Amino acid sequence: MSVAELKKKFIDIYGGSEEDLRVFASPGRVNLIGEHTDYNGGYVFPAALTVRTTIVARKRNDKLIRLAVTDLPDRPVIDITKIDQYKNLRWGNYQAGVIDEFMKAGYEIVGCDLLYDDTVPHGSGLSSSAANEVSTAIMLATFSNEARGINEPLDLVEIAKICQRAENNYVGVKCGIMDQFTSAMGKKDHAMLLNCKTLEYRFVPLDLKGHHIVIANTNKKHRLGESKYNGRRSECEKGFEILKKYIPNATCLCDITKDQFEQYAHHIEDEVIRNRVKHVIYENARVLRSVDALSNGDLIEFGKLMNASHDSLRDLYEVTGVELDTLVEEARKIDGVVGSRMTGAGFGGCTVNIVREDAIGDFIREVGLAYEKKIGYPASFYISEIGSGGGEIFE
Ligand code: GLA
Repeated sequence: MSVAELKKKFIDIYGGSEEDLRVFASPGRVNLIGEHTDYNGGYVFPAALTVRTTIVARKRNDKLIRLAVTDLPDRPVIDITKIDQYKNLRWGNYQAGVIDEFMKAGYEIVGCDLLYDDTVPHGSGLSSSAANEVSTAIMLATFSNEARGINEPLDLVEIAKICQRAENNYVGVKCGIMDQFTSAMGKKDHAMLLNCKTLEYRFVPLDLKGHHIVIANTNKKHRLGESKYNGRRSECEKGFEILKKYIPNATCLCDITKDQFEQYAHHIEDEVIRNRVKHVIYENARVLRSVDALSNGDLIEFGKLMNASHDSLRDLYEVTGVELDTLVEEARKIDGVVGSRMTGAGFGGCTVNIVREDAIGDFIREVGLAYEKKIGYPASFYISEIGSGGGEIFE
């Protein structure tokens, strides 16, 4: 829905006039490479999309936060004095988590009426949850600053950290910082090399030389909380505990080099854990090589590294599954596809593909046909535009 339509819908739900309405938005993301490295203190290379969560908001004079959304009938009302009660909401628990973390961080919560609209496909691995959290957080922080007469730009890194804590503590997914950081900080037409240990980052122009980023959605729904995500994270922690004995100055898995891993890997007796750790350490190295390749205009090398990333996520980290693997296998058969891999947590969700412009039609047709034949329901395809991070919208 356009912002004008959303404002009308807001008035239908809550009444009043459009004059005092404010609009905030924050995007989903695609990760080009660096998967399951963020919570191991490693590098990631994501970019913000133009699909996003948009919120139309109006302040209230009490402490109630009333929620509505365009694609569900749900209308939860959050009373901030009972914030623990909303963990099992079908929709609205992410917002409750963000409110909870804002209160813990000492912000004043301003009551408000809110209408949400999401264009990030849900459960697709494109961070619909981070888009929801970060847009909510930007709105809450803006209102809170206004209530306290603070007239400073928002600290978006702090906002990303609060949102990550909301997901870790309230929703119960032990995610890393990548999604929230990208949704808050992304830059139009750039990818972001982010060091998840130090939060240092730099933007890299996405000059793809006549190619586009095409996202293919398996349309298999995944829910991070119910999936094996937290299990993978604890396997990494177990592996790190073992390697740390031999590499005492390492503070996280991604401090460990490939050479050190090869030297000490035999101490990890459990093959599954050894594989998980190997993926993380090699993937971390691939991120830096990818950024070099892209900066040097070497798209072929970039694509090879993307392919290697997927194969490692399939064979060592085991988070792909037949749907993602089918999309990738079929994509790689198409002339003009430079690289293809899953993006996000895995277990369903999307693949990211670098496709030559004149091959996009073939890509969508051929991959789509083969996928539906094998999996039994269709995939969806989006030619992505790289957008900017979250903020207030003035239109
Ligand atoms: C999800 C998490 C991120 C990251 C990716 C995998 O998107 O939210 O923190 O761990 O999975 O790279």
